[in-house]
Amino acid sequence: MENFIEARGARMAPIWLKIAVVYLLIGVIFGLVMGISHQFQYAPVHAHVNLLGWATLALAGLIYWLCPRAGGHWLGLVHFWLHNIGLPIFLISLFIVNSGHAAAIPVVAVGATIAAVGILFFTVNLFLNLKKA
Ligand code: HEM
Ligand code: HEM
Repeated sequence: MENFIEARGARMAPIWLKIAVVYLLIGVIFGLVMGISHQFQYAPVHAHVNLLGWATLALAGLIYWLCPRAGGHWLGLVHFWLHNIGLPIFLISLFIVNSGHAAAIPVVAVGATIAAVGILFFTVNLFLNLKKA
């Protein structure tokens, strides 16, 4: 059972990092376009694509790479899905709000809450399962 969990964690760690680097690519292109076109109202979207997308996902992926026991645990799977479902909802709806459509604010709240609950699972997971491989 322990082996199965660790094998799953080892399989998933590169997936975290590949998703992270896609967010980096999107975030950097977004930053360039935003800077060139002077549309700074989108800075919070750019910031969170890079920080909650690239930085947070890459850090989680590296931690789970070092500790596949945590990455492959069911808490790690729930963390993976909540972050990767909540974050796009948060970012796309924040983009819509920053385009002047305040009606999308409740959707921002839903996406942000899903991602934040994911971080709660991350926290519990690290407290319970973080051990050197
Ligand atoms: C070529 C890459 C990038 C470009 C062209 C770029 C461009 C920009 C621009 C134009 C702004 C708005 C500044 C303003 O409102 O005055 C900004 C803000 C910001 N960027 Fe980037 N960015 C890049 C990469 C990154 C990366 C890799 C990160 C994080 C890992 C990042 C994090 C942020 C943050 C947090 C803000 C908001 C700063 C604040 O609140 O004042 N950016 N960026
Ligand atoms: C679910 C998690 C998160 C939520 C819901 C959230 C929400 C927010 C909100 C509502 C703002 C204010 C935006 C505005 O002024 O219009 C903000 C700003 C900011 N947040 Fe987050 N945040 C989250 C996670 C993070 C993380 C993990 C980081 C860093 C690793 C971060 C870095 C920042 C920065 C740098 C700003 C200032 C951006 C700017 O001025 O453009 N946030 N965040």
